[in-house]
Amino acid sequence: MCGVFGYIGGPRAASIVLEGLRKLEYRGYDSFGIAALGKTLHVAKRQGRIPEEGFDIRGLAGNAAIGHTRWATHGVPNDTNAHPHLDCTGKIAVVHNGVIENFAVLKRQLQERGHRFLSDTDTEVIAHLIEEVYEGDLPAAVNAVLPALEGSYAILALAKGDKRIVAARNRSTLVIGIGDDALFAASDMTPILEHTRRMVVLEDGDVATLAPASVCITNGGAPVDREEEIVQWSVEDVRKGGFRHFMLKEIFDQPAVFSEAVRALRNEELPGIIRDAGRVTIVACGTSYHAALVFRYLLEEKCRVPARVEPASEFRYYPPPLEGLVIGISQSGETADTLTALQMAKARACPTLAIVNVVGSSITRLADASLFMNAGPEISVAATKSFVAELAVFLHLVDVLKGGACAYELDSAHLAIEEALLLDLTPAVACCRDATDIFFVGRGPFYPIALEGALKMKETSYIHAEGYAAGELKHGPFALLSPETPVVAICVPGETYGVMASNIREMKARGTPLIVLGQKDDRDMQEISDVFIPLPFAESIAGLLSATVIMQLLAYHTADALGRDIDRPRNLAKSVTVE
Ligand code: AGP
Repeated sequence: MCGVFGYIGGPRAASIVLEGLRKLEYRGYDSFGIAALGKTLHVAKRQGRIPEEGFDIRGLAGNAAIGHTRWATHGVPNDTNAHPHLDCTGKIAVVHNGVIENFAVLKRQLQERGHRFLSDTDTEVIAHLIEEVYEGDLPAAVNAVLPALEGSYAILALAKGDKRIVAARNRSTLVIGIGDDALFAASDMTPILEHTRRMVVLEDGDVATLAPASVCITNGGAPVDREEEIVQWSVEDVRKGGFRHFMLKEIFDQPAVFSEAVRALRNEELPGIIRDAGRVTIVACGTSYHAALVFRYLLEEKCRVPARVEPASEFRYYPPPLEGLVIGISQSGETADTLTALQMAKARACPTLAIVNVVGSSITRLADASLFMNAGPEISVAATKSFVAELAVFLHLVDVLKGGACAYELDSAHLAIEEALLLDLTPAVACCRDATDIFFVGRGPFYPIALEGALKMKETSYIHAEGYAAGELKHGPFALLSPETPVVAICVPGETYGVMASNIREMKARGTPLIVLGQKDDRDMQEISDVFIPLPFAESIAGLLSATVIMQLLAYHTADALGRDIDRPRNLAKSVTVE
């Protein structure tokens, strides 16, 4: 996600902000920029990473500066879309983290009133709105503009002639740091910690005015007191939001990720090529491939759209006869196999749709149309929140295609994720941590969830794990079942309950330790299993999400118990850009 950082105090403002932006790098970003205020306002911004050397800030003199790391949501990553954004006069500079949901309406109105826009971002409207009301008092101008903004924001603004930084917050974290002779404002504590441990966390609706020696906070125009905290955390603690690993942080981000993915998609027009798709081929790798397998069940069962799912690495060399829409699914948007598969589909004149997390990535540039997951940057190599965001996108598509068929799930599934996050998995972890092999089994759409559970377990804990369609175990893998080989089985109410229960009994007869995820009042499964995990909302699509979260946490805690390098498993890369 984007990060903002501002400083007011001594004369090295721009270089302090540049160093602070480096501390925000962990949030993920595709471009960066700084505005510094001295006698005049200077801006430098650029697509790409902050270079170790060669980014010249000598022209950015002044004792106040604001900076930004951008993770593109509105407009591709390029120099122009990088923040800060300026008004028409070049006197007002704004950086922003969040989404201005009504920016399109505001932009149209501003253009009608003669404002010239340079970027495709939502943020630029803020600078032009401030321009309209600015009469030499920046806090007054920002306060006047905020009621027009719908959405989330952590905003920092500077204006030529006004020696203050104005910071405003709504649904996007903004922290003020209080130093001996300097003040700071940032998206989180990370860039502030090396300067001061005295912090104030702003609340929604707060506007903070940072002058060289004082900070004043108002809400709705009236002054408010916000408690100052002395933060004891290390920089590393803060980067992970208090979680020990990014993987755990990203797992816990998922209720919000699911809701945000749905919110963002509901504000978008669905590309025509998906509405008209008579037949669909889906290509993806790894976790995205498992998500695609869930998508196939949804498309076929709910929409009666025939769908075929291919691992992109296979499709590349053994392409099936192609007809209809080809969908590429990728968190990074850079996976070489998925990119090549989509290139081949285009070469055969098939319409292509990308479902991607990273805006401006190669796959989005190639595809005819793109839908975004809006999951924010995923840092841990093991994909977690992107899988949940992918499911949110699929449910939304099915919902639109079937006239509201998944509206209930889209509005409530985050609750299932929240409940799953509260479960105590200690007995299940104890069952897994000493195993050398684990099987994960499910049926129907829970089969890909089992595949994903096994992938998470093997890549984080290094325990050999296999996902199977439950009925397949007796066709060979049964030879491996023993008291040393745990099986994680998902057994939910519905058509396959009876046959799944029989499969589980067959495994029990082989002495296998059984971890069963089932409906919470399922007495049979409680009795037969060694560890029973009640599945929140087992009977609905939300059960897919809660089972996913349980699988992720089981893998995480097992890997943690074994002391693995959880965020950077051996031999793996986050983005696989080679075939
Ligand atoms: C999953 O935990 C892995 N990191 C990996 O399987 C990943 O899902 C795969 O490489 C595909 O990545 P993509 O979604 O960025 O294309």
